[in-house]
Amino acid sequence: MRILFVSSEVAPFAKAGGLADVSHCLPKALAALGHEVHVVTPMYRQAEKCGILSEFTGRTVRVPISHRTEEARLYRSRIGDSVTVHLIRKDELYNRSGLYGNEYGDYEDNAERFIFFSRAVPELCLELDINPQIIHCNDWQTGLTPLYLKSLYRDVPRFKEARSVFTIHNLGNQGIFWSLDMHLTGLGWEYFTIDGIEFHGHINLMKAGIIFADRITTVSHKYADEILTPELGFGLDGVVTSRRRHLSAVLHGVDYERWDPSNDPCIPANYGVVDSKPKALCKEALVKRHRLDSGDSGPVVAMISRLVNRKGFDLLAEVFDRLIAMGLRFIIMGKGEDRYHGFLEKMSEKYPGRLAVSMPFDDEEAHRIQAGADIFLNPAKYEPCGLDQLYGLRYGTIPVVRATGGLDETIEEYDPDTGMGTGFKFREYSGGALAACLEKAVGFYGEQEHWERLMKNAMEKEFSWESSAREYERIYESTLKGV
Ligand code: GLC
Repeated sequence: MRILFVSSEVAPFAKAGGLADVSHCLPKALAALGHEVHVVTPMYRQAEKCGILSEFTGRTVRVPISHRTEEARLYRSRIGDSVTVHLIRKDELYNRSGLYGNEYGDYEDNAERFIFFSRAVPELCLELDINPQIIHCNDWQTGLTPLYLKSLYRDVPRFKEARSVFTIHNLGNQGIFWSLDMHLTGLGWEYFTIDGIEFHGHINLMKAGIIFADRITTVSHKYADEILTPELGFGLDGVVTSRRRHLSAVLHGVDYERWDPSNDPCIPANYGVVDSKPKALCKEALVKRHRLDSGDSGPVVAMISRLVNRKGFDLLAEVFDRLIAMGLRFIIMGKGEDRYHGFLEKMSEKYPGRLAVSMPFDDEEAHRIQAGADIFLNPAKYEPCGLDQLYGLRYGTIPVVRATGGLDETIEEYDPDTGMGTGFKFREYSGGALAACLEKAVGFYGEQEHWERLMKNAMEKEFSWESSAREYERIYESTLKGV
């Protein structure tokens, strides 16, 4: 098949979250199955520093936006040897310090930035003579592309056979803008209705993707059920429900070329399931580097996460003193809301040697944290899929997670009677439930036989991108057949 994968962030060119990793690994895995895969993404400032060269093709694309037509330069790069990446260079829109915003909040012209991007996709196909059968869009930043294919480009011969797939990675961000931005889209007001992109008097770009794509997918089966409910549908549960017949779920894989402790060049000692003893050296090095108390036999708990409410930092703040009293040491990496930065700063002063905070996000350090910690914690309010708990599994760093979305789906509760399971889960969104769950984990940590069993179970789990890519392949095939 000829597949065009459209994403607003693709590692290593730019990354704000898990979407970037998926947008790197899935196209690569699809290409490995023999498909012709092109990726399209904006060219942000980060692309220049990512270590991979992007070349100017000498070509430009002309994109209608509002009553104007603007030009963007087309750059080209690759993922592996087989995936071509097209980067849309339009410095006024994308050459900024952040992808979606800065310390003051979201960029005010995000509507224009991503309407432009969504419209550049069909224009780029025309300009570069790309003939995709499947156009796979991701999250709100690309939500208008499926609608363009069904409206302004419907009668363009090149797209006659093309079908669109739209993946929801996080329904919590929908790309909602005031209705006066409608002129940017080039679409008539007939699309500004309840069956179109209108949402409480505003434009909703996520809604466009959900309604107009031929198929929709999301990133875990549990999350697919959750977005049908008012609690996690964020106002679009009715819309998602109306398209339920066309909704499927595919879990992520892990890039084990990058995330495997037996040959990870970033970590101080390599280890695997047969001999996990060198993990202790990784822990020792981590504890030392971050000046945590050494000579302590208790577990080190890692969090690698944006410091925001939805990742459960409100729960952590509620019971942090209690967790420290349990003898835990913490290492937390990530950036986010000021109040949580402030909180962590205060806690690290209050509990020297018990809490280390590492900011901003650093990929190599993330590997060392996964290798050196004993427990990986994610108490998220919701988590569509999540990748870090999957890395934790492979590194024998036992996940303690809230039973939601992908966390619930990928982690099995440890059963001491059968010796099965890979981690610990709590369901109620409360500090008390989080503390009780960690307490349980700490109990098993004290029983070597159980912990070794858990580590073995965790490290043997396999989440391959190949099997995820095969599932997408089936979805694409049935989309092309119109079923
Ligand atoms: C979003 C979700 C996360 C998911 C990622 C990639 O960041 O919050 O759960 O793993 O997208 O799909």
